[in-house]
Amino acid sequence: MEVIVKESYAEVSQAAADEVARVIAEKPSAVLGLATGSTPLGLYAELIRRYEQKELDFSSVTTFNLDEYVGLPAAHPQSYHFFMRQNLFDHINVAPENIHLPAGIPNDCRAFCREYEQKIAASGGIDLQILGIGSDGHIAFNEPGSSLASRTRVKTLARSTIEDNSRFFDRPEQVPEFAITMGVGTILEARKVILLATGEQKAGPIAQAIEGPITSMCSASALQMHEHVLMIVDRAAASQLEQVAYYEWVQQKRSHAPSTA
Ligand code: F6R
Repeated sequence: MEVIVKESYAEVSQAAADEVARVIAEKPSAVLGLATGSTPLGLYAELIRRYEQKELDFSSVTTFNLDEYVGLPAAHPQSYHFFMRQNLFDHINVAPENIHLPAGIPNDCRAFCREYEQKIAASGGIDLQILGIGSDGHIAFNEPGSSLASRTRVKTLARSTIEDNSRFFDRPEQVPEFAITMGVGTILEARKVILLATGEQKAGPIAQAIEGPITSMCSASALQMHEHVLMIVDRAAASQLEQVAYYEWVQQKRSHAPSTA
């Protein structure tokens, strides 16, 4: 796990966009795993900017989103379908047939989840998974207690997540209580993962995820078992990390380190 501490939200977004650009440069038909929420908004704005500057081409890229609220149709302004169109897909040249999100209103949830996993596998698997982290340490909607081997399924949202997400709804009772989410096991199969976190409210979950024990009580801690993870955080989100000086030392020494390839 590499921990990269940046000075601002803008720098976190730039560093994440650099990773996406690197992956697409190496493999124009890359499969990206995408997140919603406030954290990746700066990254998506930067990807749009680079596309407009003709620095990035998404024409062969495939995307799979982490999650969607159960019960919200794609046209609902708080659905993740709507969010992704508004904040990314409508502004870049990704082919509509290459975009995948869990359905908000599937006919048969269980069958849909199985097919979502099959589609990820049929695409060759996710090359780069982008993640945020919840205040309860969740990745995607893998709330505390989620099996670290879990696959795409319906999850009941934690009360704290419902409260966190109520800022997007007029009334708290409008926040959906269930979501279809990729599992921790699904996420761990991505070839590379970047988790972004900014702000003091993420300091606790970030410290648990990076320096705490691997536990289903903080599903982000499962990333400690993944071979290629970048945790890109700002100084506020890094403020409870005990080893922050070492992580910064590693970054300084990076260009001089002997190659392990
Ligand atoms: C969103 C998702 C969630 C968010 C997390 C942080 O698709 O899977 O895990 O990444 O809840 O949300 P923000 O970025 O709004 O703090």
